[in-house]
Amino acid sequence: MKVGFVGLGNMGTAMANLIASNGHAVTGWEHDGDVVEEINVGHRNSRYLPGIVLNPELRATAELSEALEDSEVVFIAVPSAFISKTLGTVRDEVSEETILVNLAKGIDRDTGLTSFQTLLSLFPRNRAVMLSGPSIANEVSRMMPTVVVLAGKDRRDLTVVSRIMDNGYFRTRFSDDGTGVELGGIMKNIYAIGLGMFDGKEIRSVNFRSAYLTMALEEMAEMGTRLGARRETFFYLSGLGDLIATSLSEHSHNRRMGELLAGGLNLEEIRRRMGILPEGYNAAQSILYLAEKLHVPMPLAKNLWDVINGRFEVEKFISLFIKDFIEEEQAGEET
Ligand SMILES: NC(=O)c1ccc[n+]([C@@H]2O[C@H](COP(=O)([O-])OP(=O)(O)OC[C@H]3O[C@@H](n4cnc5c(N)ncnc54)[C@H](O)[C@@H]3O)[C@@H](O)[C@H]2O)c1
Repeated sequence: MKVGFVGLGNMGTAMANLIASNGHAVTGWEHDGDVVEEINVGHRNSRYLPGIVLNPELRATAELSEALEDSEVVFIAVPSAFISKTLGTVRDEVSEETILVNLAKGIDRDTGLTSFQTLLSLFPRNRAVMLSGPSIANEVSRMMPTVVVLAGKDRRDLTVVSRIMDNGYFRTRFSDDGTGVELGGIMKNIYAIGLGMFDGKEIRSVNFRSAYLTMALEEMAEMGTRLGARRETFFYLSGLGDLIATSLSEHSHNRRMGELLAGGLNLEEIRRRMGILPEGYNAAQSILYLAEKLHVPMPLAKNLWDVINGRFEVEKFISLFIKDFIEEEQAGEET
């Protein structure tokens, strides 16, 4: 099958290489010309996926139309901030028959749309699938066992996508709760920033982290349910699974942002160092806006937002966490 990719960064290259290794012809568009050349000539992507020799069936191009033309399935693997700009100009170049698979996990700051909603608004006639779950790209490229979730309206589309991805170390599971699957991946990025801050401050308590992650998952499920997702979706791969993966992985951009904040860098310095602010930043802003509108309490996310914006220190976040938690429990006992 002919498969296209939009973005051969860390995730795009890992997934494109997986599919090429499964025997499919993969053409990926990449913004960075040096990366295009290195993939085609040396079968490596040392900028985004160092140390991995890529399958020669993976071809890179600087022409977006080459990745889109005649592709039966096209994966979108640029960060959410680049989706509209990158794909907005090629709306007519994607066949209506093409299945689009979204790998991005973010919210567009200007429109408030999730990455999947942005994709649907750009290509309203195409079938689209959301892929999410614990899938650290560096691990996929090293053939480590990985299970993700595919969500979409039509099970036949999920089957097409699973057939080109599944192999001895990579498996897909299906869900019909696209909203829940996507929101899990978006919201866990907010809490991963917190984990990075604890690492940066050398706050290593496993008791605290476990309580923090439990409360984070609860907040995600509460908010997600209000936004139309099914609660149980958050307690599976794309919620709990992805939250754990991002919290444990040294490769998470969002966790890294937290470490840099704890190290004293401000948002502008982090933006310069990382190129763009990781997706958890916009996600926090948009989700908190919605939480206020819908009267959903999200004390963890709200307090994280205050730390991110320099209104108070990580230590105060932890003392508030204990205080809020104890007061909430006591209030519950009194009722
Ligand atoms: N890395 C992971 O392990 C992982 C896992 C699951 C999901 N994701 C999701 O995949 C998406 C991509 O993440 P990533 O980690 O691969 O990012 P990355 O930082 O490794 O790659 C960035 C990509 O964006 C492109 N880009 C940079 N500037 C651009 C511009 N001005 N216009 C268009 N494109 C530009 C780069 O060329 C590259 O292809 C994100 O939404 C992320 O949430 C990543």
